[in-house]
Amino acid sequence: MTYDTIVKGGTVATAADTFRADIGIRDGKIAAIGLDLGEAAEIVDATGLLVLPGGIDSHVHISQPSGDGVTMADDFESATRSAAFGGMTTLLPFCLQRKGQSLRDAVTWYHGLAEGECYTDIAFHLIVTDPTPQALNQDLPALVEDGYTSVKVFMTYEGMKLTDRQILETLEAAKSCGALPMVHAENDDAIEYLRDRAMDRGDTAPKFHATTRPIPAEREATHRAISLAQIVDVPIMIVHVSNGDAISEIEAGRARGGTVHAETCPQYLVLTADDLDTTGFDGAKYVCSPPPRDTAEQAACWSGIERGVFDVFSSDHCPFRYDDSEGKKHPQGLKSFKWVPNGIPGVETSHPILFSEGVTKGRIGLNRFVALTSTNHAKMYGLYPRKGTIAVGSDADLTLWDPEREETIRQEILHHGADYTPYEGIRVKGWPVRTILRGRTVVADGELRAEKGVGAYQPRARSGEALTG
Ligand code: URP
Ligand code: ZN
Ligand code: ZN
Repeated sequence: MTYDTIVKGGTVATAADTFRADIGIRDGKIAAIGLDLGEAAEIVDATGLLVLPGGIDSHVHISQPSGDGVTMADDFESATRSAAFGGMTTLLPFCLQRKGQSLRDAVTWYHGLAEGECYTDIAFHLIVTDPTPQALNQDLPALVEDGYTSVKVFMTYEGMKLTDRQILETLEAAKSCGALPMVHAENDDAIEYLRDRAMDRGDTAPKFHATTRPIPAEREATHRAISLAQIVDVPIMIVHVSNGDAISEIEAGRARGGTVHAETCPQYLVLTADDLDTTGFDGAKYVCSPPPRDTAEQAACWSGIERGVFDVFSSDHCPFRYDDSEGKKHPQGLKSFKWVPNGIPGVETSHPILFSEGVTKGRIGLNRFVALTSTNHAKMYGLYPRKGTIAVGSDADLTLWDPEREETIRQEILHHGADYTPYEGIRVKGWPVRTILRGRTVVADGELRAEKGVGAYQPRARSGEALTG
C-alpha cells in the first residue's frame, strides 16, 4: 500500500488557504496532499467535511494543586479525552512550581501524572511561583534547553503572585534563555482591597467575585506587565484577555514597538458577569479569573479577534466539580466567593463555540479560525511546522469538521471530569466529527477509537525559532 490512510473527499483548510484535496498519511506523517493519491490500508471518507489541522489549546490546567481540600476535576486521561472529542490533538498544560519546590521537580511530577494517560499530545509550560536564583538561573535555562520554552507568572492569587521586582527578574531570566513569558494580569492589591470591603459588607455571594475583579484591575496590570516587559526588552504573552481596555493596552504596547502577544477565551465571548448573579450558589459555576464581563466587552473581544489583535484562542480549561466538597461547593467556598475554586471547564467546547459564533455567523473566515485554534499556537510555542498545519512532513494531526452539524452544548454529551458545563444550552452549528492524531483516529462518530497513551509528550523549540522558522 502506498499510504496507511487517505483522508478523501474533504475540503482542506489551513491558516492560509482553503482547497479540495485528499491527504495521504504514512507513519504518522502527512506524506502527500493532492488528488487521486492511489491506495491505502484505510480510507477515511471526508465528503462534505472540512479537514483542518488538529486543534491546539495552549492554555489548560490539568491536575493542578489547588489548595487545601480542593481537587481539580480532570486528570490527564479525562482532560485529553475531552479535548480529543472537542477536536484537539495537542494540549499545553502548565507545570506549577509550588513554593519551595524546584522547577525540575514540578516538571517531573507532571510527567509522572501524564505518562501513558493521554489521548492527545501534550507539551508543558512552566509556572514560576518561587523565583529563587536556582529556579531562574539554573533550572529555567536547563528546562528551556529540554523543550519547556514558555513560563507563566501570576500578578494575582495568594501564594502564587510575584512582586514587580520578581517579575522583572523572571522576565530577564526568560530573555536570557529564550523562554516566552506569559502573564496573568490582574492587580492583586486592588482585588484584595475590594474583596475586603465586600466581605465587611457581608457581600459573599458568587456574583461578588466579578465585582471585586473589575476591568481597571486587569487594565492596570496589563499596562504594568507590558511596561515591565519593555524595561527588560522581552516579548510577552498576555493570557486570557477579557475586555476592551486591556486590548487597548496591548495595542498601545505594540504601537510603542513592544512584542506583545495576546490570547482570549470563550468565556469572554459568550458568558457575562450576569451568569454569576443567580439566586443560590449556581453563580459559582462561572467563577474564573478574570471574570466574564458584559455584552459590550464581549463585542470588544470579538472586535479584537476580527482585527487580528489576538494571536491565539484558548479555553483556560481549569475544571472543578460543582456539586462536590472538593470543588465549587468546598465548605469554605460555600461561605464566600473568596474561597470558591477559580476556574471553569471548557476544553471540549472551546473550538465548537468559536467555529459557530465566529465562522458560521460570519465574524471570521475559516482560515482565521485555523490560525486562532491551531497554527498560531504551534508557531507561538515552538511546535511549528511539526504541528499546526497541513503540509507534507508535518504530523498527521487532523480534525474533520461537519460545518452543518448542529448541537446544543449539554453536560451529558461532554467527556470531561466536571459535573457541569458553564456553556449549558448554547446552540452551535459546526462540530468536530473525527480527530486524528499522528495518523491514528482517536475519536470518530462520537466514540473513542484509541487507547489512552496514544498521546505523547512533545518537547518544543523556542517561540522565536518557530515564529521566524
Ligand atoms: O480562573 C482561572 N482562570 N483559573 C485558572 C488559573 C488561571 O488564572 O489561569
Ligand atoms: Zn491565569
Ligand atoms: Zn489559566
